[in-house]
Amino acid sequence: MAEKSFKYVIVGGGVSAGYAAREFVKLGLKAGELAIISKEAVAPYERPALSKAYLFPESPARLPGFHVCVGSGGQRLLPGWYKENGIELILSTEIVKADLAAKSLTTASGETFKYQILVIATGSTVIKLSDFGVEGADAKNIFYLREIADADQLVEAIKSKKNGKAVLVGGGYIGLELGAALKINDLDVTMIYPEPWCMPRLFTSGIASFYEGFYKNKGINIIKGTVATGFTSDSNGEVKQVKLKDGRTLDADIVVVGVGGRPLVSLFKGQVEEDKGGIKTDGFFKTSIPDVYAVGDVATYPLKLYNELRRVEHVDHARKSAEQAVKAIKAQEEGKSIEEYDYLPYFYSRTFNLAWQFYGDNVGETVLFGDNNPESPKPKFGTYWIKDGKVVGVFLEGGTPDEYKAIAKVARVQPPVESLDQLAKDGLCFASKV
Ligand code: FDA
Ligand code: NAD
Repeated sequence: MAEKSFKYVIVGGGVSAGYAAREFVKLGLKAGELAIISKEAVAPYERPALSKAYLFPESPARLPGFHVCVGSGGQRLLPGWYKENGIELILSTEIVKADLAAKSLTTASGETFKYQILVIATGSTVIKLSDFGVEGADAKNIFYLREIADADQLVEAIKSKKNGKAVLVGGGYIGLELGAALKINDLDVTMIYPEPWCMPRLFTSGIASFYEGFYKNKGINIIKGTVATGFTSDSNGEVKQVKLKDGRTLDADIVVVGVGGRPLVSLFKGQVEEDKGGIKTDGFFKTSIPDVYAVGDVATYPLKLYNELRRVEHVDHARKSAEQAVKAIKAQEEGKSIEEYDYLPYFYSRTFNLAWQFYGDNVGETVLFGDNNPESPKPKFGTYWIKDGKVVGVFLEGGTPDEYKAIAKVARVQPPVESLDQLAKDGLCFASKV
């Protein structure tokens, strides 16, 4: 079988891979030095588009429109860019075996890739209901969303089930973003999730009550405190009904499941140190194995600001960790040093005409400010998280670019707070004075 050898190999062709490639080129790359191996059939793209503009009924986003690095306002790297820069972009190719001691990767067809330096950028996969043995969960028209091929299948189903019924299983990012997308496509949408409110990983009950109210006003049904325990299908094998744990049954033409992700680390199990479900790295994204780096969703790294190891499944970190790893690789080659990664967590979402951003850490006491009435014509509200007398995290819905900049600064600076009542009254003014 064929064997190819590269100075650098990136395994995975998602967000991190694309930003890493751009950084390699920026810092100096010779033709033939870098290969990106991806099981997807397309060059790296901005994954967040898949649950947003990709699903719009009018003028949906399509490739090549959202290849990296447009999501952060950078140059769009079309497939030709990789060629021009002497980067081998090996698509539709899954690595099925990694031998870190032998510095080799093997594909499903038995091809071998050797490397001097490896960057692991395999991202996450979806948790499936069939993983917990939910009855009938393999019926047709039950969808998960991770890659562009998943989004294409969903788009086809949306077209063929016009005005039909959609059930969203899960009240996290996918649940909320897809709930909105399917509603915009005129489906009759029901969301179900086990928790007392949506997005409990980040939202307080005060934040969630706004989105739940807003979604209800859009005609979305929300069923909380229960889970899907089974599905029935018709004679074509297409999903017909969702059975809930509380005994209810919902009709469904389309089901979208978003019950969380799992980092893709299994290729490297037992070969590299892990922590918190990911591959453990230092502040340069170096793993416990020499010449092996891990970035994006799979990396569990020291979050300097909070002096703690964290794994972050969001796009901003995927981009920045990739750039940091490449800077570290290049610096090491040149005998130079760079600063340790000093990341300020940043998450965001957009649904309907809403948009929020969050910076920092969601721990401690909370203070809600502003107008979170879902009936308001222009709702604008936020929440501060306060720990040990300091503001450590800020959420804002409906902000301006300057206001988002201000809340990011607050989360970084961590200003002290004397009175929580006063903070609630000051609201955004507090942030703009920091
Ligand atoms: P990413 O998943 O981007 O890429 C991994 C790549 O590796 C994929 O191409 C995969 O096929 C490939 N791969 C895996 N195993 C392989 C193997 N064995 N061989 C070859 N290739 C392999 N975040 C945010 O902050 N805001 C947002 O709005 C959104 N929206 C959003 C929507 C949707 C639908 C998803 C699924 C995710 C988001 N995210 C997000 C999260 C964000 O997209 C995510 O954190 C980054 O894409 C992570 O980047 P990575 O490069 O680590 O993985
Ligand atoms: P998530 O962790 O955000 O939400 C999972 C949700 O699943 C939970 O909140 C819970 O409501 C629900 N749940 C868990 N078990 C359940 C069960 N048995 N039945 C019904 N519901 C159940 O995960 P996700 O929404 O699936 O997102 C997947 C990945 O994609 C994550 O890494 C996420 O960060 C990423 N993503 C991010 C964004 C964004 O940042 N805007 C957007 C889309 C996806």
